[in-house]
Amino acid sequence: MATSAPLGSQDTGIVHVVGARPNFVKAAPVVAALRGRGAHQTVLHTGQHYDDRMSAVFFRDLGLPTPDVDLGVGSGSHAAQTAALMVGLEKEFTANTPGMVVVYGDVNSTIAAALVAAKLGIPVAHVEAGLRSFDNTMPEEVNRRVTDQLSDVLFATSPEAVGHLAAEGVSPDRVHLVGNPMIDTLLGNLDRFDADALRARLDLPERYAAATLHRPANVDDPANVARLTERLHEIADLTDVVMPVHPRGKAAFDAAGLGDHPRVRLLEPLGYLDFVALTRGAAAVVTDSGGVQEETTILGVPCLTLRPNTERPITITHGTNQLVTEADLLPTLTKVLDGRTGERIGDVPPLWDGRSGERIASVLTQWSR
Ligand code: UD1
Ligand code: UDP
Repeated sequence: MATSAPLGSQDTGIVHVVGARPNFVKAAPVVAALRGRGAHQTVLHTGQHYDDRMSAVFFRDLGLPTPDVDLGVGSGSHAAQTAALMVGLEKEFTANTPGMVVVYGDVNSTIAAALVAAKLGIPVAHVEAGLRSFDNTMPEEVNRRVTDQLSDVLFATSPEAVGHLAAEGVSPDRVHLVGNPMIDTLLGNLDRFDADALRARLDLPERYAAATLHRPANVDDPANVARLTERLHEIADLTDVVMPVHPRGKAAFDAAGLGDHPRVRLLEPLGYLDFVALTRGAAAVVTDSGGVQEETTILGVPCLTLRPNTERPITITHGTNQLVTEADLLPTLTKVLDGRTGERIGDVPPLWDGRSGERIASVLTQWSR
């Protein structure tokens, strides 16, 4: 594993590599905590997500600094996108060599940055290490496993993640259980999630289920999207459905006529503050998002996760999350809306207390000394 980075002309300190929507929410508290410690740091945006509603709005909502570097890589197949990310990152890291690279979560920008940094001998820190769905059909699972193997410092959000890393032979002295920086962002902005103001501004009904779906397994196959559209229409017969549509599934859901039901309201992707306000005001959430499972756990909103597995089981054991199949969706939601299930069943997960960014910054500043 890497110990130093004497490559380029300039040491850019701690470099945070972000590229996709969930990265921004996780990085914000780490960047803020390091800023508080006067650390030398820069933010590199890969450009994996680029629409204003998928990217810039998060920088505005979360007070993240404008990225020092924007690679503008954009979309592509996994190989094309990962290759473009790696070429861009290698050029940048060679010209301006980081003292350490911090990567977040499980997106293609994460694995690309970890691979490039590791091969250049630059230390890598992985925030949200050790999550496992044990489902290698998910691109994120591949990204997580490889990133963890390449990382020098691994920050885990939950005890079971620490266990997975130990089982994979990662030395325990590299692993730090720090809690969940995404929840730092949530707790730090609680006063700003105004469900009533959002309801008035968007003319939303009093009671609704919020939905977000973007996993390839759910939205890439048009036949699957057509079936999911039928299920969402059945839900809409029961209660209004409000769905900010991720660009990945937009064409397929439009083609399937999702918005044709009078009680389905389709929206553009929402900015962070509006989205969490939508979640907070919802009677229930139907999702396949990773982050939304965690946010609903803290907000106490019932969450139905339309997936066969989750890398975040603590949101089930401690939170409001439950896995549902397409067939279970309507009966489970009916029970939730009747108040027969979906209540919080435990405490908040350990260390999901709003101080994870500080814990991460403390380890990073000691490490880079
Ligand atoms: C990516 C992550 C996924 C994460 C999700 C968060 C990978 C492999 N996947 O999935 O883990 O849950 O981000 O939202 O990294 N597009 C736009 N505008 C944008 C960005 C994307 O229209 O600003 C469209 C493009 O058609 C693109 C498609 O969305 O091809 C998919 O984008 P991509 O970044 O490849 O993957 P996501 O599905 O967003
Ligand atoms: N999110 C958002 N607007 C939306 C949908 C999601 O701001 O329209 C936020 C959500 O609150 C969470 C993050 O984006 O903080 C999660 O991103 P996403 O579901 O795209 O990715 P995942 O967590 O599944 O990787």
